[in-house]
Amino acid sequence: MQTASDKLKDRAAELGEELVAIRRELHRHPELSHEEVETTRRIRGWLQAAGIRIADEYPLRTGLIAEIGGLREGPVVAVRADIDALPIQEETGLPYASEHPGKMHACGHDFHTAAAIGAALLLKEREADLPGTVRLLFQPAEEKATGAGKVIASGALSNVSAVVGLHNKPDLPVGTVGIKNGPLMAAADGFVVEVAGRGSHAAVPEAGIDPIVAAAHIVTALQTVASRNVGALQSAVVSVTKLHSGTSWNIIPDKAVLDGTVRTFDEEVRERVLRRFREVAEGVASALGAEASVRWVEGPPPVNNDAELAKLAEASAQALGLAAIEPSPSPAGEDFAFYQKEVPGLFAFFGTSGPQEWHHPAFDLDERALPLAAAFLAELAERVLRHKGQEQKGRE
Ligand code: NI
Repeated sequence: MQTASDKLKDRAAELGEELVAIRRELHRHPELSHEEVETTRRIRGWLQAAGIRIADEYPLRTGLIAEIGGLREGPVVAVRADIDALPIQEETGLPYASEHPGKMHACGHDFHTAAAIGAALLLKEREADLPGTVRLLFQPAEEKATGAGKVIASGALSNVSAVVGLHNKPDLPVGTVGIKNGPLMAAADGFVVEVAGRGSHAAVPEAGIDPIVAAAHIVTALQTVASRNVGALQSAVVSVTKLHSGTSWNIIPDKAVLDGTVRTFDEEVRERVLRRFREVAEGVASALGAEASVRWVEGPPPVNNDAELAKLAEASAQALGLAAIEPSPSPAGEDFAFYQKEVPGLFAFFGTSGPQEWHHPAFDLDERALPLAAAFLAELAERVLRHKGQEQKGRE
């Protein structure tokens, strides 16, 4: 007998060509974070053509919110897709490669957007039976980790019981979904350390305080922040990625500046690492007569999945004939984590058999994953609606 999930999967397959065309149209016209004006216009057009309501009561400058359902009483579940591209010159040689020089959908957000549109089309066809409302969040500026905040500020999470989303995963084969309870992606914080010394003639170092020597010691000592403070079964990364100082071969400068990033998967480890980082940088500088000031550039917290939603995601994958596997966590950051601070959420990795990792100029994905991703999001949204609806009834 054909189940409702079988029907959904077949219908998604029928929509496959249309979804691929949508993805390629987006791929040809990538726009950077907070500049997704044409992308937003296109998404609006595709949704409106299918009779889907745009929820302009949640105003966004770029990106948009849409809604399906609400004809029957029930909870609200949000499906999130990010829509922005990266400042990378595309080197795929594809016939539908980027037409915007220096910009590329090198993280596959075009895939996420097309998959969410696919889910919207599928859910629209079942709208009369939806036990609640599915709210689609087409979010700008994920790459700057500032778009989720705009969506939250618009009020679009009001009444939302759960939020789901996915990211394509090049190293997982098409037909698999990486689903993990607990931490999946890292908190991605940045830092800027200013080391203040005192300038002098290079031949008379005793007249000054050398910030370059101090900065070099700080970089070395920072290597102990993760290795001597974080246990073997926990993890953290501390990377110094920029170090600037000086103007001439014969002058000891008066300051040095170093930047970089810290990645952690756990809030407690995150706090400990940030505290030790500051103590080490300030202490080493002070020992050498210099002064370090540490500025944090706070990024998204860890993506931390809800256990119950993870079970529903596994059941959704299985119902569609997809293989649910437990993925290794990624040390990359994701601003989906900001939604999970507000409501329970589930972020999945979706197999796309890509030749390159995210953010590579030859990044690509296997488009056969697209209708599968659309079906997965639709199936999951519906299952979460049903589950949250039962929970609410149980409480009444
Ligand atoms: Ni991405």
